Formats: sequence, C-alpha cells, structure tokens
Amino acid sequence: MRRPVVAGNWKMNLTRGAAVDLVRSLAASLGPSDSSASVEIVVCPPYVYLEAVGQAVQGTSLRLGAQNVSDQPSGAFTGEISTAMLIDLGCQYVIVGHSERRTLMGETDEIVNRKVLAALAAGLTPIVCVGELLEERQRGQTSAVIRKQFEGSLAGISGEQMARIVIAYEPVWAIGTGQVATPAQAEEVHLDLRSLLRSRYNAAVADAVRIQYGGSVKADNAAELMGQADIDGALVGGASLKVGDFLAIVAAAGGH
Ligand code: 13P
Repeated sequence: MRRPVVAGNWKMNLTRGAAVDLVRSLAASLGPSDSSASVEIVVCPPYVYLEAVGQAVQGTSLRLGAQNVSDQPSGAFTGEISTAMLIDLGCQYVIVGHSERRTLMGETDEIVNRKVLAALAAGLTPIVCVGELLEERQRGQTSAVIRKQFEGSLAGISGEQMARIVIAYEPVWAIGTGQVATPAQAEEVHLDLRSLLRSRYNAAVADAVRIQYGGSVKADNAAELMGQADIDGALVGGASLKVGDFLAIVAAAGGH
C-alpha cells in the first residue's frame, strides 16, 4: 500500500510574510505532527523562504521541499544551491526536472539525472518530473516521450534508490492552464510508468514507487484523479497557494 504524497510547488510566488502565513494556516488546520497520517504533505517554497517556512513547519505534519538543486557539491557556481544547503535548512524533498526548468532553463535529461543522483546521495527524496508537450500528445508520442525521460532522468538508479524516489507525471499542456488531464489520460501514463519500473526492476519496486499527478489539480477535480489506482498523490501549483484548496486536495488524496 503506497502512502500518497501531496506536494505544493509554490513556484516564484508569495512574499516572506505570506509564505509563513500560508504554512501556519495549513499547520493549524492539519494539527500536530502525526507520522500515521494517511497522506504525506510537502511544501516547496522559493529558496529564499525555505528557512522561514522550515521554522514554521517544525512540529507540524508538513515537510519541507525545494524546487530545484545543483548537481554540484560546492564551489564556483554563482547563484546555485547545493544539496547540503537544503539539508541544512531542513529540506527532505526536492523537485527535480520540473517542465518549467526543462523548457525555460534548458535542463536536459542528463542534467536532471545528475541532480537526482546528487539528491539521493545527500538523503533527499527527489520528486522527478516527466511529461509530454501538447504537440507530442497530439502526434501520439506520449508514451515514447515518457519512456525517454524515464530512461534519461533515472539512468543508473538502483532498485533500492528507485523505491525512495517520487515520480511526478505532469503533462506540460495541463500545467497552469486549467486544462486538467482526465483521470483516464493520467492513469494510462501512470500505468506506463509502472510497467517501465517493472521491466527495469521488479514488481516490488514498481509497486513501491509513488507516482504523483500534476497539472491543474484543483479542489474540485482532485478526488476523481486520486481515485485512480496508480495515482499516489499530487504535485500542485496554483491551488497550493490557497489554504482551503490545498487542504481539499490533501483530503481527496487521503480518501484513496
Ligand atoms: P498548476 O497546478 O498551477 O497547473 O501547476 C502544476 C505544477 O507545475 C506543479 O509542479
């Protein structure tokens, strides 16, 4: 039985005060830390608010994640942030290979792979994003694109490491558009990913890996998506900035 994980990707939003207010309101509604809670909940603020948000999540059931990380341990990499720095601030998760970084910042599968390996080596849980463009879906290439991203981004990962990774299927055309994938469209890709895991590793690894769906997840469509057998939570953008909406998505994931 996989424990669903719902993560809020705040992207480049909020002020420091608003970030702390948001996490305090979430924590107040969720109650104190409870490791038996049915859903794992992660918040991923911008780097500069990690420390303030990290302090606010202490003693709560919320966990801290970053939106990106360097693949390098330290040195002359102006503007970059290392895994050790994230650990220092209390991060347990890091989003790697988000489509905005792939398409806007030129991150390739090779770069994503190096970041995944660096995150694992540091003890962080990578949330590795994959997803096709609209043109690729329209040309019937979705499953080939997902396979290529899976193979490239997750190259050289052992079965033991794989079981610690969270995969996020985020169709690019659904991100920030309000055009959510139908539960059947999402489930089809999640099943593809699970069969890739089964062929590369084994059934135990395929059954253990949590695969989130992301892309216009909202309070009113979450339950149907989370009701799919192979959808194990959500990676939420816009709706994670609103307390009520995010809590409704968490509740929908818990009803799995
Ligand atoms: P939206 O929920 O705003 O579509 O964003 C999804 C996303 O990119 C999460 O990483």
